[in-house]
Amino acid sequence: MSDKDEDYWLQYHSSLRNYRNKVRADLSAGTPGITIQASDVKIIFSTLYPAFNPTTQPDLMSETPFFQHHVFFCMNKRDDGRPSCADCGAMPAQKYAKQRIKQLNLSGPGKIRVNQAGCLDRCDQGPVLVIYPEGTWYTFVDNHDIDEIIDSHLVQGKVVDRLKLTTP
Ligand code: FES
Repeated sequence: MSDKDEDYWLQYHSSLRNYRNKVRADLSAGTPGITIQASDVKIIFSTLYPAFNPTTQPDLMSETPFFQHHVFFCMNKRDDGRPSCADCGAMPAQKYAKQRIKQLNLSGPGKIRVNQAGCLDRCDQGPVLVIYPEGTWYTFVDNHDIDEIIDSHLVQGKVVDRLKLTTP
């Protein structure tokens, strides 16, 4: 599988990109003999998108996205005693992130958008946020963590491993 073919498959889902990146990281860490196969990618992809037809599916990434990054904070609050992100500081964190992105002149079309979201269904790992198009999930404790996610991930393009959720 050429890089071009691989990218064609991988562009459709962040899980595939994450898988590809993990394989490459394993290789660079000195694990010999591991290589990504076309069949691996196709199996994963067909599991995620059983109806996908590569010959008719339009190139989903061919258009320039409206925002370079879209950041969603779960703001869900529950009143039934179960934990929720709003009980773990999600609201002030989202407000802080929005202000800081604005201060850095990074907000707006072609740049970064910070939004509120309802429950993102990862309540047991909350508070959570997710960054698209990468599909990278983070948790956080305080504004220092938000700063690190902004400075490292959004500005420098480096994932903050220590805050990344443990499952993809
Ligand atoms: S309450 Fe935040 S992910 Fe469910």
